[in-house]
Amino acid sequence: MEVVICPSAEDIGRHVADVYEAVLRTEAPVIGLATGSSPLVAYAELIRRHREEGLSFAHASAFLLDEYVGLPATHPESYAAVIRRELTDHVDIDPARVHSPDGTADDLAAECARYDAAIDAVGGVHVQLLGIGTDGHVGFNEPMSSLSSRTRPKTLTQQTRKDNARFFDSVDEVPTHVLTQGLGTIRSAHHLVLVATGEAKAEAVAAAVEGPLSARCPASILQWHPHATVFVDDAAASRLDYADYYRYTLANKPDWQGF
Ligand code: GLP
Repeated sequence: MEVVICPSAEDIGRHVADVYEAVLRTEAPVIGLATGSSPLVAYAELIRRHREEGLSFAHASAFLLDEYVGLPATHPESYAAVIRRELTDHVDIDPARVHSPDGTADDLAAECARYDAAIDAVGGVHVQLLGIGTDGHVGFNEPMSSLSSRTRPKTLTQQTRKDNARFFDSVDEVPTHVLTQGLGTIRSAHHLVLVATGEAKAEAVAAAVEGPLSARCPASILQWHPHATVFVDDAAASRLDYADYYRYTLANKPDWQGF
């Protein structure tokens, strides 16, 4: 795992966009997308590169991490709608190749199995963007999620519902259940890229990066992945014991070694 401490969110956005651009320039790119506020700066940079530098998403397929149960794709706070608004409506990706689990399916278990099969059918996700919840969740894998889990329905913690209440009129409107790629699904992506900014994420980042590999902190699965990169700002890095080492590594990063 590589931990990269950046001076600003904009720097994180540029690094993440570099990683995505390299994948997007391959023949049949499969990109993993996340919602939440953390990825927005990277999406803004990708949209800018599309508009100003001709970066194309025309051959890409995209898979979202998760979706609320009960919200149709037309609901403004469904993750399907959020990702259209924040990224895919602004680039040249084929909307039919932007996939998300359907939280309104009659048979949610079957829908989750279909979603995992759709990811497998394209050969897996090449690069998966991840935010992190204050309780260490990735996607919507709350603490004590199985480290091998596949896409499935989950119950949100009250903390996550409170954290996400800002997108709704009240906490009562935040759905109680979700469909999420499992930790095993996420782990099968070729490259995991986690982004976190701000003091509120410092504890979760420290647990994920330097704590034990444990279902208690689902983001700790990054430690078990052969290619994981964590981009954080100074505030999100403020509880990392090895911060000096990560800064030293970045300052001495050889030109031949990308992220
Ligand atoms: C939600 C999403 C996660 C995201 C998390 C943090 O719970 N399901 O994928 O990482 O929020 O969001 P933010 O980046 O807004 O803090």
